[in-house]
Amino acid sequence: MKMKQLLSALLAFAVLFSVMTACGNTSTDELSSGEGTASGETAGDDTATYVNRDNVYAYDEEAPSLYEAFSQWFKVGTAMNPSDLVEGTEEFEILVKQYNIFTLENGSKPDAMHPSEDVYNFTQLEQLVEFANEYDKSVRGHTLVWHSQCPDWFFYDDDGNTVSADVLVERLIEHVTTIVSHFKGEVDVWDVVNEVLGDSGGLRDSMWYQIIGDYDGDGDSYDYIEIAFTAAHEADPDARLIINDYSLESSESKAITMYMMVKSMLEEGIPIDGIGLQMHVDYTVDVDTVRSNIEILLKLRNIDPDFVIEITELDMSCFTWSDTSTEVELTDEFVEQFDTKYTELFELFIELAEEGTLDSVVFWGYNDGATWLNSYPVSGRTNHPLLIDSDYKLKSAYWSLIDLAESKS
Ligand code: G3I
Repeated sequence: MKMKQLLSALLAFAVLFSVMTACGNTSTDELSSGEGTASGETAGDDTATYVNRDNVYAYDEEAPSLYEAFSQWFKVGTAMNPSDLVEGTEEFEILVKQYNIFTLENGSKPDAMHPSEDVYNFTQLEQLVEFANEYDKSVRGHTLVWHSQCPDWFFYDDDGNTVSADVLVERLIEHVTTIVSHFKGEVDVWDVVNEVLGDSGGLRDSMWYQIIGDYDGDGDSYDYIEIAFTAAHEADPDARLIINDYSLESSESKAITMYMMVKSMLEEGIPIDGIGLQMHVDYTVDVDTVRSNIEILLKLRNIDPDFVIEITELDMSCFTWSDTSTEVELTDEFVEQFDTKYTELFELFIELAEEGTLDSVVFWGYNDGATWLNSYPVSGRTNHPLLIDSDYKLKSAYWSLIDLAESKS
């Protein structure tokens, strides 16, 4: 009996000591009850670890999991590279812990997977699929048809002349069929075509558009898109097939153009399951505009009630488009605006998920140290567009989203 009392006293002292130690490392405003529960601590368990949000790394055991926080609404994913898939590394731990849907940043584009007519290279996507199968994750294939990162061999013959529409259609069908068949049942979603709309309205003036044009003579010139979707569906009828583009969330005219084109294709029976909004926004993003443009796209549900949208390449630049500076001062005011915009976007995503129109939100990268926005549109820039910083520490925007998920649960 005496021994039991002694043990209880020792345990109580240990708990008191650990709480005091934690208090000594932090400021009082970080000790709100929300801090503990948001970190994955069991509510009511006063022996659980206190988390100082300023010093949590995305791979830490006490860090929450972004995808688990939002799992009742949608998957949360990231673009990544096969070099991130080395077991035991911090990068690997972050991917496993924080995300449940993945896309290769570059490794499943036409130049990577089909560099010349007789050469297919599936290695990078196979690596991702293997990882996804082992850890119960989903895979997006990005992208089968694009005007960029697409090798010239598609469009030219051995003499350097542009190929005929018949030849390009044959190459297109062979390309799509071979890749989608190879990954049948393994890649859940394909961005079948990427960025097919131009910047000044209408279809992009790509080689695909120029050469194939109105192939069936029915008066519209998006036949290469119809052919690509039809071939992809035949190769894997269960894969979700997406038409992916940028600025749909900010440009009403682009959203309307997309709506009109997809409407016409759906009415012809082309198997398009949804529209991917890349969502490369900046910290001034107007979320009401995002909402109303998405509402335009979702009118396609009048034709196909299962039609969805996906967020496919989310990031939030700390520079507006016209800003050419390379550094930004992360003042409290700036960070608050940045965090608020992310929160407003995720509030919208939750609403859409609750309506059944969105089930996946994918970031274009998982840390500020490796984002395309450090070199585009201004090279040598230090941008901070994501939820995890370049040291892999969780940023306040990350915690804002965790709080949002908790408050909506
Ligand atoms: O692999 C070569 C390397 O060998 C060479 O030394 C180096 C020198 O420039 O280039 C490397 O290739 C680069 C490649 O990324 C891999 O890092 C290319 O130059 C570079 O252009 C390429 O950029 C990619 C860009 O697409 C190409 O358009 C970005 O990483 C990638 O994030 C970006 O992703 C696109 C989406 O697919 C579509 N939506 C927009 C998004 C952002 O631009």
